[in-house]
Amino acid sequence: MEPVQVAIVYYSATGTVHTLARAAADGAEKAGAHVRLRKVAELAPPDAINARPAWAQHVRDTADVTEASLADLAWADAVLFGTPTRFGNVAGQLKAFIDTTGGLWYQGKLADKVYSAFTASNTAHGGQESTILALANVFYHWGGIIVPPGYTDPVQFQTGNPYGTSHVTADGPPGNVVLEAARYQARRVVDIAAALKAGRTA
Ligand SMILES: Cc1cc2nc3c(=O)[nH]c(=O)nc-3n(C[C@H](O)[C@H](O)[C@H](O)COP(=O)(O)O)c2cc1C
Repeated sequence: MEPVQVAIVYYSATGTVHTLARAAADGAEKAGAHVRLRKVAELAPPDAINARPAWAQHVRDTADVTEASLADLAWADAVLFGTPTRFGNVAGQLKAFIDTTGGLWYQGKLADKVYSAFTASNTAHGGQESTILALANVFYHWGGIIVPPGYTDPVQFQTGNPYGTSHVTADGPPGNVVLEAARYQARRVVDIAAALKAGRTA
């Protein structure tokens, strides 16, 4: 069987979700997948970005990351989406990308793939679960197969978020536990997608 194809599509303003996305890419690669790590296009005006040095720095630091395209979604057997929590919801930049998928959706090309999501927020009760569940609404419309981490690995009892990997930015940069959770989430996505792919090609 051909390796599972995983797209990791994310938005990050100040690098936290980017760090989680890289850990997820690492986990998926180590699980044997072909991986595309893709940032969505930045839509904020330069004035807003430049007003926050960490944001401007992250834009410079990730200039070499390829922007997500619809072709990446069509290519993938599984997609992990990452977004900062914005008012308990998905960042507009990622939502804007999702809102370009109507054509693929209409053709049924987003159905039957595996989907999973991760996030970061500034506070522990700042809406991580609502953000991941908001992305799940999209996956339902696409006819996707939602694969959450649940409590299916010991690291999940340390992070305590069965909906998806999440980090509290106020605690500092993502540490070993949350990075391992991101790697684990991606590994689980690859394992389930591989079982589906094997079943379909049998
Ligand atoms: C417009 C805006 C809205 C935000 N809303 C929330 C929120 O509802 N809850 C929360 O805990 N943090 C909120 N934050 C903080 C971000 O979630 C946090 O900075 C982000 O997770 C950092 O991710 P990044 O480094 O990948 O950009 C918000 C930040 C911005 C700029």
